[in-house]
Amino acid sequence: MSTRTYDPIAPQTVAFLGLGVMGHPMAGHLARAGHRVAVYNRTASKAAAWATEHGGTAAATPKAAADGADLVFCCVGNDDDLRSVALGEHGAFAGMKPGAIFVDHTTASAAVARELSAQARSRGLQFIDAPVSGGNLGAVNGALTVMCGGDAAAFEAMRPVALSFARAVTLLGSSGAGQLAKMVNQTAIAGLLQGLAEAIAFGERAGLDMDAVLAVIGKGAAQSWQMDVRGPTMIADQFDFGFAVDWMRKDLGLVLDEARRNGAQVPVTALVDQFYADLQAKGGGRQDTSSLVRRLR
Ligand SMILES: NC(=O)c1ccc[n+]([C@@H]2O[C@H](COP(=O)([O-])OP(=O)(O)OC[C@H]3O[C@@H](n4cnc5c(N)ncnc54)[C@H](OP(=O)(O)O)[C@@H]3O)[C@@H](O)[C@H]2O)c1
Repeated sequence: MSTRTYDPIAPQTVAFLGLGVMGHPMAGHLARAGHRVAVYNRTASKAAAWATEHGGTAAATPKAAADGADLVFCCVGNDDDLRSVALGEHGAFAGMKPGAIFVDHTTASAAVARELSAQARSRGLQFIDAPVSGGNLGAVNGALTVMCGGDAAAFEAMRPVALSFARAVTLLGSSGAGQLAKMVNQTAIAGLLQGLAEAIAFGERAGLDMDAVLAVIGKGAAQSWQMDVRGPTMIADQFDFGFAVDWMRKDLGLVLDEARRNGAQVPVTALVDQFYADLQAKGGGRQDTSSLVRRLR
């Protein structure tokens, strides 16, 4: 368990929808920070287990979880999953009180953020798109980076609460801007990881001690989080952890769709996306994104 401490703020009534690898620990930080938390998960047993562990309430529907909440946090898989927990008869929007804020941490499209923001506004609610970076460890340690899009007043209201599970929560523009920033993040990582994979595979073929090489060049201009944290496990051929190739393909699909719309050139990202498709075809969809190096050995 994390040893994180929390800045004291007035306890709020919040909901959390989606208790997966990310949502479970994020919701845990909200409870430990003193907020009253109701949770919903599609597989109800996970919500019951969370409530037993953290002392909150497990609700049977997103609507019931959102009933009376000031803030409704959400972290599900993709655009359609998000619509299914937000909209409809049993969706969160149907249960939220006027002025309440829906904060979506799913990595989804900018288009769905704008769509749900408009739907929220028409019901007197607020919507902030707020995808995260930092992975499962960042969620467990309450040290995520949160990229937000939406209304400034709604952002100011959610920020102190989100800081229960994050170390940075930043507004980057209007609705959709958080999702676009996450696409920038994933684009930067895709090319970098392929470069790191090629560097490691090259050094191995050259007969170098790659742990020693990374220890040296990791103190120079080639240093990166991926090199420091994933380099040693790439050399050790370990990939059964981390951020899954399947999720990365979803994220790069969002980048490629958006690039088609805005005219950005992303040739390296498109190529790396195909390399990830190779890994999926070989059964590696659940392995960490650093498994790119496997194709080169
Ligand atoms: N894992 C990471 O390192 C990481 C890092 C940054 C961002 N993200 C993003 O964060 C989001 C969640 O990732 P995760 O790793 O937490 O995924 P996960 O472990 O697969 O959890 C997904 C959650 O969404 C729920 N869900 C999926 N489809 C649903 C639907 N149609 N209706 C209701 N609930 C649904 C799942 O419920 P069930 O329990 O019933 O399946 C589960 O609670 C994704 O968008 C991912 O790209 C992940």
